[in-house]
Amino acid sequence: MLATRVSRPLSRFSVRTLKFMDMRNGPRPMRGFSFPFSTPSSSPSSVNEVEEIGKRSVLITGCDSGFGFSLAKHLHSKGFIVFAGCLQKDKGEGGYKDLDAMNSNRMRTVQLNVCDGKEVERAVEYVNTSLDDPDREAAEAWRDLIPFPHAHALLCQQWLCTVHPRAVVRARSEEWRLEPRLWGLVNNAGVSTFGEVEFTSMDTYMEVAEVNLWGTVRTTKAFLPLIRRAKGRVVNISSMMGRMGSPARSPYCITKFGVEAFSDCLRYEMHSQGVKVCIVEPGNFIAATSLYSPERIKAIADKMWEELPEVVRNDYGREYFDEQVSKMETYCNSGSVDTSPVIDSIFHALSSPTPYTRYHPMDYYWWVRMQIMTHMPAAIADRLYVY
Ligand SMILES: NC(=O)c1ccc[n+]([C@@H]2O[C@H](COP(=O)([O-])OP(=O)(O)OC[C@H]3O[C@@H](n4cnc5c(N)ncnc54)[C@H](OP(=O)(O)O)[C@@H]3O)[C@@H](O)[C@H]2O)c1
Repeated sequence: MLATRVSRPLSRFSVRTLKFMDMRNGPRPMRGFSFPFSTPSSSPSSVNEVEEIGKRSVLITGCDSGFGFSLAKHLHSKGFIVFAGCLQKDKGEGGYKDLDAMNSNRMRTVQLNVCDGKEVERAVEYVNTSLDDPDREAAEAWRDLIPFPHAHALLCQQWLCTVHPRAVVRARSEEWRLEPRLWGLVNNAGVSTFGEVEFTSMDTYMEVAEVNLWGTVRTTKAFLPLIRRAKGRVVNISSMMGRMGSPARSPYCITKFGVEAFSDCLRYEMHSQGVKVCIVEPGNFIAATSLYSPERIKAIADKMWEELPEVVRNDYGREYFDEQVSKMETYCNSGSVDTSPVIDSIFHALSSPTPYTRYHPMDYYWWVRMQIMTHMPAAIADRLYVY
């Protein structure tokens, strides 16, 4: 398969040829403009473009394994306060133990199932109460000193700054509210499955959508007030499968297309609020994460065959079914094992003053295929890659 042969990550490509201009050398002519062709994932320059991280906090969902786990560690190493949402923390399983074992005040694990509204609410509460807002103390000083701040604060401001040094910090800020803020939310939690439309049950469609799509929407809505106050970032982990369909991947593709649509709408709405919304569309990194394993593929296949309607089972037959399963196994073994392009993309989205709208951490084969599938007439693209 070409995908296995052309497996050099796109991040190794000389991206300067694809970018409009490096921020170090001057602003891009169209600031904030992002064109899929010009937004490959990581490059040495992305690390140079970062803003100072300071005491910024980020919540990541799905930190038990895979990208989420690596990202939590990476952001911590860069100085972020990390709230790592873990699905299995309550059960005492998964990556939360390693994260807790870091014994760092900047690494805080929190039980978080994105399908459970109550757990999401509890996570918001936890983040709310444990956010270290350096401005908060000063803001409280304001409140204590001025009983009716809105009417008299401006008049008192100058006098107060001279008598109460802590108030100076707040007086410099545009906002005088007391609410805590969260800089970033990374919607990473996800599950995947495979199977042609006729082979996939409605339950499966709904299970995958519950995590990947509705989990993303639910978590974003819950944390948005905290992000909005910080004029922060929402980073949604979609997939190249959120840009192009693929045979036998409809239960996954529709959820990632949904994440893309949700992110676009949110980006338009949040523009005026100063919140930036970024989408990361990884290619095939299955070999490096726990999204699929040979055991999981077998379990999905066995369950699917067992639940197939009689008519489908008879019409297609076992041989055809096994062929599809083995194609999936080949796809899963052919992916990149180095997740750093994905992690670097997310880091850039969270820390660059001018993050991209879309990031494409993927190898050449998938990047070219995605450009052709999204830019060429379907009749040509389908002929090239599907039929
Ligand atoms: N790997 C790839 O090739 C690839 C490509 C494109 C996009 N992505 C996307 O990248 C994201 C991360 O996937 P990954 O590859 O790192 O796979 P992963 O290792 O399986 O990570 C996904 C994480 O989400 C967690 N999770 C599952 N259901 C959850 C729920 N209801 N609430 C909270 N957390 C939940 C999983 O927990 P458990 O481990 O406990 O189940 C797991 O820790 C996903 O959104 C995936 O769709 C991955």
